Amino acid sequence: MKHARNVIILIVVGSAVLLFGVNVMDLAPIVASAEAQQVDWLFGLHMNVIAFLYVLVNGIMLYSVFAFRRKPDDDSEGAYFHGNTKLEIAWTIIPLITVLFFAFLGSVVLRNVSLAAPNSMDVTVTGRQWSWTFEYPEYGIVSTELNLPVGRQVNFKLQSEDVIHSFWVPEWRLKHDTVPGQDKYIRLTPSEEGVFKVRCAEMCGTSHAYMLATINVMSQEDFDIWVQKKLGVYEGPEGGEEGEVDPVAEGFALSQSGGCLACHSVDGSPLVGPTWKGLYGKTETLTDGSTVVVDEAYLYESIVDPSASIIQGYADVMPKNFGDIFSDQEIGYIIEYIKSLQ
Ligand code: CUA
Repeated sequence: MKHARNVIILIVVGSAVLLFGVNVMDLAPIVASAEAQQVDWLFGLHMNVIAFLYVLVNGIMLYSVFAFRRKPDDDSEGAYFHGNTKLEIAWTIIPLITVLFFAFLGSVVLRNVSLAAPNSMDVTVTGRQWSWTFEYPEYGIVSTELNLPVGRQVNFKLQSEDVIHSFWVPEWRLKHDTVPGQDKYIRLTPSEEGVFKVRCAEMCGTSHAYMLATINVMSQEDFDIWVQKKLGVYEGPEGGEEGEVDPVAEGFALSQSGGCLACHSVDGSPLVGPTWKGLYGKTETLTDGSTVVVDEAYLYESIVDPSASIIQGYADVMPKNFGDIFSDQEIGYIIEYIKSLQ
């Protein structure tokens, strides 16, 4: 009985310390979606149960190692006993019920985060080596940045053009693979305004780590303005802002959000594609042996029709749809940015 009391005290104290530690530690980034709250609740519950089980198993084990160790003057073989049916039933039934209970909670949360809201917005996400694009069928918009109104559920349709990627926004908690040849779906409701990043959570090749896209979660009013600007029908108060644009800065932002910089370095090192540093004005040899001087026309062609003239030593791997993603004006900004990299 003395041992049972000691073990119980050890487990209660050990659990209290560990549970306190687990609950004051900030393990995850901020909560920025409605779904994240439920995910965090279930995760927290798991962590608490795991912390308790850790102390339970290790507490009994460590206590036994010390309390029941062989005494120096004891040469006996120890007491012989053969199992304990009650204990074995208990340590089979209790974990079984615990695991089934968590399976039940997991299915409830999964159901809750998959429920369709009546006003949800469709967005098609396309992943490719190594960039993301976002299509808004409701508005007829394609964007390299994921702009969303706060508080409205989004039904993401996930697609891939090449290999398996994984659509992941840590602040939203949920993630889902994009699988070539299949449509996958995930629902998320941004609950916090701000700037976040889509990350790729599936090892997908050389520039996997740079497969990022910017998310802007904004008010419904700002979202409506963005849609109108994208469609070219914005007639708002600050109409004269076109003159303010710095083409090089704009080109850099577009190259980043478009994923260009995942394959084209700006420091002279060759990646999947030719570096942009000093590219403009250079004479390059193409795969057919002919030479070309890199001018605006060549850069424009290489962006909208990358297979047309490939520089020697590089493979024909660049996505063919940048002409649909970027407007001619945006391509102009990107060319200005490339020209600035001398
Ligand atoms: Cu796409 Cu990793």
